[in-house]
Amino acid sequence: MNGVGVGSSRSMLVRVPTPDHLIRRAEPRDAGAIGAIYDDAIATGVATFAAGPHDAAERRTWLAARGERAPVWVLDADGTAIAWAALAPFSHREWYDGVAEYTVYVSSSAQGGGVGGQMLDHLIGEAPGLGYWKLVGMILEGNEAGLALARGRGFREVGTHHAHGHVDGAWRDVTVVELHLAENR
Ligand SMILES: CC(C)(COP(=O)(O)OP(=O)(O)OC[C@H]1O[C@@H](n2cnc3c(N)ncnc32)[C@H](O)[C@@H]1OP(=O)(O)O)[C@@H](O)C(=O)NCCC(=O)NCCS
Repeated sequence: MNGVGVGSSRSMLVRVPTPDHLIRRAEPRDAGAIGAIYDDAIATGVATFAAGPHDAAERRTWLAARGERAPVWVLDADGTAIAWAALAPFSHREWYDGVAEYTVYVSSSAQGGGVGGQMLDHLIGEAPGLGYWKLVGMILEGNEAGLALARGRGFREVGTHHAHGHVDGAWRDVTVVELHLAENR
C-alpha cells in the first residue's frame, strides 16, 4: 500500500505521497464531485453501462444506501474529491460472500498520474478487513486504461463475455479480471 496509515479502523485515513492528498471515506459533501467524475467517464462510452446524469442529490442518496460492505472512498486533494473508488458484494449468494466487485474512477484532469493505481491499491488493502477474499473487475471493451490498471496490480484476465451489455445501442464485450487476496488457497 502507498503511504502511512494514520488510524486503526476500517475508515482510517491513509496518506498518499502528496501531502495535501489523502484517501478517506466518502461523505455527503463529496456527492457532487463523485457524480461529475462518474458522468465524465460515462461520456467516454467505455467505462460503464450506467447512464447519467448523476447530480449531487442523486449521489447522496446512493452513498447513504450503501451497506457496511459497500464502502466508497475518495482521494481528497485540498478539500476536493478528484477520484473515487468503491467495493460492493459481487453476488447476493452467501457462498460468494468473500468476492467483491471493485470500481475506480479518476477525474479526467487527474488521469495518467498514478491516482487510479493508488485508489486500487487502497481497495486491495481494505478488502480483507471487510471479509473479502477476492476482487473482481468488469472491464468494457475499449477501456485500455481500465485493463492496464488491473493488469498492473496483478489481476488475472478470467475471460471475455461477448456482447454483455450495450451503450448507446452498441453491444460491448466485457473482460472479467480477478485478484485473489488470500494466501492459503
Ligand atoms: C481506469 C482509470 C481509473 C485509471 O486511472 P489513472 O489515474 O489514469 O491510472 P494510473 O495513472 O494510476 O495508471 C494505471 C495504469 O494504467 C496505465 N494507463 C493509464 N492510462 C492509460 C491509457 N489511456 N491507456 C493504456 N494504459 C493506461 C498506466 O500506464 C498504468 O500502468 P502500470 O500500472 O502498468 O504503470 C481512469 O482512466 C478512469 O477513471 N477511467 C474511467 C473509469 C473506468 O473506466 N474505471 C475502470 C473500471 S472500474
